[in-house]
Amino acid sequence: MFIENVSIKNLSNKFSTPFYCYSSKTIIEKFKKFKKPFQNSNVIICYAVKANPNIAILKILSRLGSGAEVVSQGELIRSLKAGINSKKIIFSGVGKSPNEIEYAIKKNILQINIESEEELKLIEKIAKKLKKKIQIGIRVNPNIDAKTHKKITTGRENDKFGLDINTAEKILTNFRSNLYIDLIGISVHIGSQITSIVPFKKAFFKIKNFVNKINKNKRIIKYLDLGGGIGINYNNNKTINFNDYVKIIKNISNNLQCKLILEPGRFLIADSGILVTKVLYIKKSKKINFAIIDAGMNDLLRPALYDAYHEINNINKNNGKKNYYTIVGPVCESADIFSKKILMNKIKTNDFLFIKNVGAYGASMSSSYNSRPIIMELIINKNKYSIIRKTDTVINQISREKIPSWAKKIK
Ligand code: LLP
Repeated sequence: MFIENVSIKNLSNKFSTPFYCYSSKTIIEKFKKFKKPFQNSNVIICYAVKANPNIAILKILSRLGSGAEVVSQGELIRSLKAGINSKKIIFSGVGKSPNEIEYAIKKNILQINIESEEELKLIEKIAKKLKKKIQIGIRVNPNIDAKTHKKITTGRENDKFGLDINTAEKILTNFRSNLYIDLIGISVHIGSQITSIVPFKKAFFKIKNFVNKINKNKRIIKYLDLGGGIGINYNNNKTINFNDYVKIIKNISNNLQCKLILEPGRFLIADSGILVTKVLYIKKSKKINFAIIDAGMNDLLRPALYDAYHEINNINKNNGKKNYYTIVGPVCESADIFSKKILMNKIKTNDFLFIKNVGAYGASMSSSYNSRPIIMELIINKNKYSIIRKTDTVINQISREKIPSWAKKIK
């Protein structure tokens, strides 16, 4: 098993597991694939930083000309540090704090996407205080079911995201752009890991009609942000044909006179990464063969949170009878399961396994639950590897904690 020209077996013997390992080549190729059809068009690509915010990955994408879609001050700081042009940064999210808004305005980002009227008022107040102008987009909730996992669907009327079309229209008719606010954008994002083009089509055309209605007499909307959401193939299932997506985007932009913003996350990064882990124990119960590995749900949450499937392979090509294994982590939660009863070649204690397609929403969703350190991330470039995040230590974790003096006197 190699990533580019580096043997994963060598890496797993050299470093302690678990660790993430990415291929820079895959990231670069994916970005170029996404960018190519939109070259020379009015499209700004803003990578959804939440998918993987590692500064090295942001640097690669920044070098390729990507912008960023951020949902916190932290992601904004990372993006700027990686050299992403502030005029290609979009700030979204349903609950931005006043401090975050102030920071974003000061940094002259391209646009803040608002999700409530109160937020718009607050932004106006802050911009006025700063004597700065900020471009605003309204995130519209189109009431379209993205037909994805219920925890990552965002565009149905009872989801917390966006404003319904009528409220958006009301805001656009009542609020005039002024010295501090340029209300010229509409955004939509109906969910993630979307595997059919149909919901995209429905949502995008609904929004296009809305923009045409608003722009009928005067060109008010100049930016249309179509979000992210393209699903990838985790399980040899059918997913979206990228060319169909491109066709729809081009169709939308026809006669619209709007700049388009696209916010791919998973599509750009998911299949660039694996999680390398070691088998600690094999344990047989009455009906189940457990392979207990050293990676846990704190390192990769997707299977526990969304019952997400990630292919798991053995670095060794063991012979012997195939068997059904349930692969579990060490975290003290019954949900800490990576795969239930999958048929694999014999797994032995100390084997190295790797979990696939974890470049997106893998490391970015990790935690130190059970006081487990956040793990190392490596990236491969041709025949070289680089550590792009060191494993955290528990001493480092404790160093941020403090025992109050009274607690030391408790008898
Ligand atoms: N734009 C907005 C406003 C978003 O909320 C998201 C993702 C994206 C773009 C990027 O979506 P993508 O192209 O990656 O689908 N943790 C979940 C995914 C949550 C996605 C949240 N928003 C998972 O592991 O599946």
